[in-house]
Amino acid sequence: MAEAIVPEGIKKAAGSGEVPVLLSRVNDISEKRLVTTLGEWDRVLGGGLVPGSLVLVGGAPGIGKSTLLLQVAHLLSSRYGKILYVTGEESASQTRLRARRLGAEEGEIYLLAETNIEGVLLQIERLQPVVVMVDSIQTMLLPDIQAAPGSVSQVREGAARFLRLAKDGGPAVILVGHVTKEGFLAGPKVLEHLVDCVLYLEGERYQAYRILRSVKNRFGSTNEIGVFEMTGSGLQEVTNPSAMLMAERPAGVAGSSVVACLEGTRPLLLEIQALVSKTTFGNPRRLATGIDFNRALLLAAVLEKRAGLPLGGYDIYLNVAGGIAINEPAADLGICLAIASGLKDRPLESRTLVLGEVGLAGEVRAVTQLERRVEEAARLGFNRFIIPAGNRGGLKGQSGCEIYKVSTINEALRLAL
Ligand code: TYD
Ligand code: MG
Repeated sequence: MAEAIVPEGIKKAAGSGEVPVLLSRVNDISEKRLVTTLGEWDRVLGGGLVPGSLVLVGGAPGIGKSTLLLQVAHLLSSRYGKILYVTGEESASQTRLRARRLGAEEGEIYLLAETNIEGVLLQIERLQPVVVMVDSIQTMLLPDIQAAPGSVSQVREGAARFLRLAKDGGPAVILVGHVTKEGFLAGPKVLEHLVDCVLYLEGERYQAYRILRSVKNRFGSTNEIGVFEMTGSGLQEVTNPSAMLMAERPAGVAGSSVVACLEGTRPLLLEIQALVSKTTFGNPRRLATGIDFNRALLLAAVLEKRAGLPLGGYDIYLNVAGGIAINEPAADLGICLAIASGLKDRPLESRTLVLGEVGLAGEVRAVTQLERRVEEAARLGFNRFIIPAGNRGGLKGQSGCEIYKVSTINEALRLAL
């Protein structure tokens, strides 16, 4: 415990009995994090699992949550000892079978096939594990609540019991929560405010890549992502996602540009694709995947009005390759150039990185952390940079690189196409 400053002669306070503690003397949790060798997992958590924290791992059924947690359990147990894996969905022997396939059989992982939370808490008391994994919260049941497992009240009350356990000096608890296509009913959304961290495992079930994204983290930055690949022996981390995303990029195709977005603390190169085709009937269609739809409409309007592109007669389909969503304006100029390139059917020079926020007057505005974004691209062989003139100083001229500073969308169009 941290040392409290209680002046002599003052009686212990009323209420819970807590007294003020000097900020600099408050327990520092950063040194005590539980780390694995799975760097992507640790990073998404902000540098490892914090003891006594409650983490929710959400995702669609079959996406790989149980697989990921079993791997994490194995890695944690080899360093920190007992891990309790509560399985309410699969039998203990099914889980063992999976663990064998993952090479995660060894170590102090205890399996408990139990859905009654009272029973689970009793076993936790006996076993005293460092980490408890509950797969899944929707299968757990508190007998004194008159509702079916998976209902809002069961899920919420069940999670609250695990929260109390973790906060009372108990183990860190990781809850698995299924997100169904119909939405989040009785699922993770009900729990977001309650838990310390919310991680979502995303991806297309029939594609290999999985993205673990932190949407809430009381101990680290949010929007941090970890990238994994589902293989025959479980999830393998992809330590260089930019390279992976760029590898599949077709060369010399019109309607494509590359931007660098900051996902949490890491810059990530993303390809923006725009298909621009003549509208054959009725109003022009606009469709955007991975880009905010209203942002896409706004940028199309700016291109039409400020750069005179006749987009009113064209359908525009936008997509971010790799299934990743962009949520920052630094990608604006990249989106604009992809659309313009698609319209003119003229590709951008392939090793060009485009950065800049676009305003309604067609002006190109500065972006944050320009240098880190440019470095990431330079590392992967990009040598032509179209960046905002408003970003002052900064860039140390990388040798053999062309750097173009633009202040309007028209300048960028002239340079790029
Ligand atoms: P799973 O972890 O059971 O998903 P969730 O717990 O989120 O429902 O993942 C199941 C899918 O992962 C299943 O389709 C099979 C696949 N898989 C592999 O491709 N490789 C593996 O090593 C494992 C264990 C599963
Ligand atoms: Mg599962």
